Amino acid sequence: MPSVYIKTYGCQMNERDSEAVAAQLVAKGYTLAKSEAAADVVLLNTCSVRDFAEQKAVNKMRNVVGTARSEKRDQIVGFMGCMAQSRGRELIDKLPDVDLVLGTQKFHRAAEYIEELLAGRRDKIVDTEAEAKSEAAIREHLLNGSAKTSVSAFVSIMQGCNQHCTFCIVPSTRGEERSRTIPDIVSECRELVSRGVKEITLLGQIVTSYGKRFSAAELFGGTSVPASRSDKSAFVQLLEAVHEMDGLGRLRFTSPHPRGYGDDLVEAYARLPKLCESAHIPLQSGSDRILKLMHRGYTREKFLGIIRKLRQARPNIGIYTDIIVGFPGETDADFEQTMSLCREVEFDNAYIFKYSPRRDTPAADMPDQVPQKVREERNHRLLELVNEIAARKYDAFIGKQVQILVEGPSKKNAARYTGRTRCNRIVLFDGSARHHGQLMDVKIERTGSFTLYGDPAVVNL
Ligand code: SAH
Ligand code: F3S
Repeated sequence: MPSVYIKTYGCQMNERDSEAVAAQLVAKGYTLAKSEAAADVVLLNTCSVRDFAEQKAVNKMRNVVGTARSEKRDQIVGFMGCMAQSRGRELIDKLPDVDLVLGTQKFHRAAEYIEELLAGRRDKIVDTEAEAKSEAAIREHLLNGSAKTSVSAFVSIMQGCNQHCTFCIVPSTRGEERSRTIPDIVSECRELVSRGVKEITLLGQIVTSYGKRFSAAELFGGTSVPASRSDKSAFVQLLEAVHEMDGLGRLRFTSPHPRGYGDDLVEAYARLPKLCESAHIPLQSGSDRILKLMHRGYTREKFLGIIRKLRQARPNIGIYTDIIVGFPGETDADFEQTMSLCREVEFDNAYIFKYSPRRDTPAADMPDQVPQKVREERNHRLLELVNEIAARKYDAFIGKQVQILVEGPSKKNAARYTGRTRCNRIVLFDGSARHHGQLMDVKIERTGSFTLYGDPAVVNL
């Protein structure tokens, strides 16, 4: 059978989509190649969020087809995901060797199209059409992709986003918000747990909008609707349904949006012990004026209020965020507001992005675009601050005992094992195969760059 190599750019949702495509192909008998040069089929799963991410994928594709051509190898090559969706056929016009362009609602058709291309029944395939119910089609899992059984899995609960932040291309690459029903998601989670998964991360572009447009009956797929109508949000009802599953050790989700971050979600952290004390809450800016221009739908004060309440509910919660610097019209004073908010909140870590104009987004046409040099300077200053706080937070772990879920041998050093704390930090320790998949306690002895080094603790009960 042919072999396939999939390279993924971008977010965890893309990782999940790639895994589902790989699982689909493996189920048909394909093998997974170790490199693109050894593969009969090469797929690049792309990201469009910033221009740089698109360029990387295009350059990679140039490279792949160039090498295949010079070595006279016959290879089927394709783009899938966000850039495939937003650029469509234009990608084949630009790179005529590309055989397949597969949009974000078509991942489940990958095997069928690849078969047609391999058999020579079709020459080029571009499919970026919308497809009803495609949000429920990403459900196959590989789990043992890297010769060990995965203990942690991603589950896609919804697709798309209706928030239309003025800088963001996602609503056009991923489409309108479409949610899966609770029973559908729960059955996928149950199957994962029965295959040895201990930790599940629920994924969506804006999980706080999960199931918003469903009636109670639709949310539960028309079956076993709870007798009394819950006043909790659909997302919190989903968390409860997954949480009660025997055998599941940990539950996470990403990403919520501050606008829809209700008290019921904060309270879920206080109430659901498997829900890990780790929260990724995108901030984007600390200036109310910029938040408004971004169409984010919340203020600095609302954001700070959420963080305050979360820390009350779970004092040790790890808080992570995304920030954009150099959004059009951002003045020095606006940027200082972002700096001061970071000092106040002390994020455990923050992903900082230089604003990148995206096609067909309102911000791309806004006046007062910030010069590249200023974006660079702000990026540098904020990064310094965020890193300094993050390092301090890492050092605070020294001497502490933390629970980790052991994921397997470290990629860099097979004598070391790696696990994650409940607040999602990587811990390395001298372990062995018997630790695999265990929830265990370790004592943190020292820190490295974004890594904790632990010693399996002797726990006296
Ligand atoms: N809702 C998604 C956001 C996807 S985009 C999520 O929470 O994961 C991921 C991050 O990329 C955003 O939070 C934002 O900080 C950044 N980003 C999005 N569009 C951008 C742009 N045009 N320029 C720079 N950064 C951007
Ligand atoms: Fe993008 Fe804003 Fe939605 S960042 S994914 S439009 S919440």
